[in-house]
Amino acid sequence: MRHLIDILDLTTEEIDGLILTAQDIMKYPEKYAEKCRGKQLATLFYEPSTRTRLSFESAMLSLGGSTLGFSEAASSSASKGESVADTVRVVSCYADIIAMRHLKEGAPLVASLYSTIPVINAGDGGHNHPTQTLTDLLTIKQEKGTLSGLTIGCCGDLKFGRTVHSLVGAMSRYDNVKFILISPDELKIPESVRSEVLDKKGISYVETNSLEAAMPELDILYMTRVQRERFFNEADYLRLKDSYILTPDKLKTAKKDMAILHPLPRVNEISTAVDSDPRACYFRQVRYGKFIRMALIMKLLEVK
Ligand code: NCD
Repeated sequence: MRHLIDILDLTTEEIDGLILTAQDIMKYPEKYAEKCRGKQLATLFYEPSTRTRLSFESAMLSLGGSTLGFSEAASSSASKGESVADTVRVVSCYADIIAMRHLKEGAPLVASLYSTIPVINAGDGGHNHPTQTLTDLLTIKQEKGTLSGLTIGCCGDLKFGRTVHSLVGAMSRYDNVKFILISPDELKIPESVRSEVLDKKGISYVETNSLEAAMPELDILYMTRVQRERFFNEADYLRLKDSYILTPDKLKTAKKDMAILHPLPRVNEISTAVDSDPRACYFRQVRYGKFIRMALIMKLLEVK
């Protein structure tokens, strides 16, 4: 039985396979409408979510399956003190696959040790978010036609932004990829990602404070929200929250075919005036997220 806890649990070949399946689903959705008939997806969300939970649910429904679950810890037995281990042992009796989001880093990994059905990490604290990364990879493939030879600018909260940690891990397996890591000093990418991924694999990267300086070089601009809920004090958040605001003016020096991605939710970091720019991919990205999750659910349930 397979789980998806870290994006690197999947080989590059498996990721390429998921992308191909998702592209086929987009073309021929009717072929997939009954693939998970009789199967149930449990969404165990201990942290807020709009896209991730609903896209998992929509994915399972579009495969002919059904869903059950909770969308906040307060409405589950976690509020009575039940452990994650016990909760997944129970849910394993009702469902066929679990998508779990938790505020604690490593909680989905713990869940996978006790579950008798596949567990998907739908975001664990400031750590990882592998299915957002699958979404991002499909988006890049659709928009740029390739995952190799790209200069990727990650901008914003690179410290707490779990989507960036998983994206850097995944993209560092493709050829000639270069990262420009744009953040305030306080929100730089964690040392663990730098030493265990970037340095270990000899990936070319630079760290900078300046979005303007990086802009002309970028093939992908991956914007992120400053992760308020992970700050220790509000004053630091207020000081850092508007470090970067992407506007049409700042895009004047960007490549004509640069792709702007954002996992969403957006707060202030992309002006709504950018939304009509053809380079703004973030709402198309949302759509891709459903199809890649359909492909993932089928893979983990071993549906042919
Ligand atoms: C991201 C997350 O939850 O980490 N959202 C998402 O799943 N699309 C990004 C964020 O919350 O800023």
